Amino acid sequence: MSAIYRYRIGKPIQTEAVVQKIPMEKGEIPYFRRIQKLELVKQSADAQEEMAQRDYFMYPLEPNDRIYGLGENVRGINKRGWIYESNCSDDPIHTETKHALYGAHNFFVVDGTKTFGVFLDYPGRLVFDMGYEHTDELRIIPEEWNLELYLIEGGSILEIVKVFRQLVGRSYIPPKWAFGFGQSRWGYQSAEDIRAVVKGYRGHQIPLDSVYLDIDYMEGFKDFTINSERFPDFPEFVEEMRKEHIHLVPIIDAGVKIEEGYPVYEEGVEKGYFCKDEEGNDFVGAVWPGKVHFPDVLNKRARKWFGKKYQFLLEQGIEGFWNDMNEPAIFYSEKRLEQVLKKVRSMKNKNMDMWEVFKFRDLVNGLANNAEDYASFYHRIGSKKVRHDKVHNLYGYHMTRAAGEALEEMEPQKRMLLFSRASYIGMHRYGGIWMGDNQSWWSHLLLNLKMLPSLNMCGFLYTGADLGGFGGDTTEDLLLRWLALGIFTPLMRNHSALGTREQESYQFTQMEVFQKLIGIRYGLMPYLYSEYMKAALRDEMLFLPLAFVYPEDRYAKEVEDQLLVGESIMIAPVYTQNATGRYVYLPEPMKMVRLKSMEEMETQVLEQGHFYVDIALDEVVFFIRPEKIVPYTQASQYMEAAESSEIHVLDFVTDHAEYELYQDDGYTKDYENEEHLKILQVKKTPDRTNGSK
Ligand code: GLC
Repeated sequence: MSAIYRYRIGKPIQTEAVVQKIPMEKGEIPYFRRIQKLELVKQSADAQEEMAQRDYFMYPLEPNDRIYGLGENVRGINKRGWIYESNCSDDPIHTETKHALYGAHNFFVVDGTKTFGVFLDYPGRLVFDMGYEHTDELRIIPEEWNLELYLIEGGSILEIVKVFRQLVGRSYIPPKWAFGFGQSRWGYQSAEDIRAVVKGYRGHQIPLDSVYLDIDYMEGFKDFTINSERFPDFPEFVEEMRKEHIHLVPIIDAGVKIEEGYPVYEEGVEKGYFCKDEEGNDFVGAVWPGKVHFPDVLNKRARKWFGKKYQFLLEQGIEGFWNDMNEPAIFYSEKRLEQVLKKVRSMKNKNMDMWEVFKFRDLVNGLANNAEDYASFYHRIGSKKVRHDKVHNLYGYHMTRAAGEALEEMEPQKRMLLFSRASYIGMHRYGGIWMGDNQSWWSHLLLNLKMLPSLNMCGFLYTGADLGGFGGDTTEDLLLRWLALGIFTPLMRNHSALGTREQESYQFTQMEVFQKLIGIRYGLMPYLYSEYMKAALRDEMLFLPLAFVYPEDRYAKEVEDQLLVGESIMIAPVYTQNATGRYVYLPEPMKMVRLKSMEEMETQVLEQGHFYVDIALDEVVFFIRPEKIVPYTQASQYMEAAESSEIHVLDFVTDHAEYELYQDDGYTKDYENEEHLKILQVKKTPDRTNGSK
């Protein structure tokens, strides 16, 4: 059994990440030493060396210690050997050299000589040096010493994670249709464009449940508006799509356009609901529409007001949203732009040498998401004025909370789809996240896989990456391989950036393969949905590293490209171009299932050990664990069509096994009803070893 301890240092700002009341400990924090010393620091290659006060927590790492967690981040499942930062960042280049992505997920588990979990509830910038500066030291370096630290010890990694998940509350549960396949692209300009997408899918019998509306649906990139020229009679269009069993999911951005006559802007100004600058004026940043104000979603009243705005779209038949640019991303601030333009003008007739060119480049590149800008505007939290950088990591969380709370109030009986780009632990109760602006790179397929368990540890269950890759041009094989992983991720969405190669399934040559592969997602839904619901309701993980399940197995501990999905399945996707298969490690005997479609199925029992497994582009391969069951059904074109289909089972049972199948209506919130759980049994007798249906 794991026990949890809570420590407070300084005067922390309440983040509302935690839902349980844990008594405060008085003494020293075990495991860690607080180090206070002056040190010569060099932040990066081009930064100047300077003396700084280094004040950090240190845990001495043993050679065999591993570190797991930190949610949305670059690099491995084992996080040891790099320096990470909690600092929600709008950065579309997710390379190994980065330190932060869009989320701030301050929970990790050390496993080795000692095994324990740590959650740092701190909303400002926080550095986790996981053996970077010194390979044998784990360092936690907060910007300020006002934080709460939760320590969980005793029990296995899975028990520690469960105790943590109970601490932060139940994960968000989407409507069932949101498990269907979704198509998205920045650049669908009109209702006609959307109709063409639906026709492309339905016309080729490729399953589809939703189409996403990117910023193009808005009038001048203004939140809660619809371009009526390109989307005439929007409610009728939503209804037309609904009849096709397609859900439209519009994007909402954090910045509110500054424009006379635009009600959201005018109301926000009048009520004082936008973030303020140093002088008490509404802070001016810029995003897609040009100059914007940012709703002060950390202020309860402003949050309520902004949340209510979603009603505009609900009334037109919308049932889901994705919240974007909520780190918040700032292309430039009005003040900084003025300063930069002035400096640039002064460079006009210069013969710019290397240093001048660098200076020029830094000036321009430094306009976006500038740390000084983040330290130049303010929130009102209760009666206090709080500088943004001190609570930076809470912005996306509270924007999504605004929507989540309002949707709950407006439609209390109905599940709504909601996911966000930026997040902090606590937001997982209100919505999911997608993994942001990845690229059409093979390495990002693998990164997608690696992030899944780390995100689950932090409560984010409803998640997925832009399949096919957002930036850059995809290839047909990359998309097919990515879909073969996406079949297992709760959010299964193909999304791409403006100007990149069109990557809807029907744009490629092997239409039938897309049809069958995406069909497999629908076929496996009884299993995938059951496992999601049980993980959410029991505060458990859906995606598990092999290390968590086979802790005694030295090979399993090092596997970073295979995962367990729920209790029965192990996946090992191909993530290398031109590969015709891959090496797979089986920590125990398993039954390999090879699917070309739900009708074309082959199985083979493999012993424990290392194998090279052939996996063609038109196949999905997974492995069933011993004495486990996988319920499935036939493929369908959309989720509702699958509802009445008969359930079959795949199994690797030699004697007797049971499976808890979770089935509900998928739309209302009566989650805990006992009737939703049905026990499936498979019994084998010596003379009946194969038949298990
Ligand atoms: C951001 C989002 C991306 C979206 C784009 C335009 O880059 O991450 O998904 O397509 O903005 O709205």
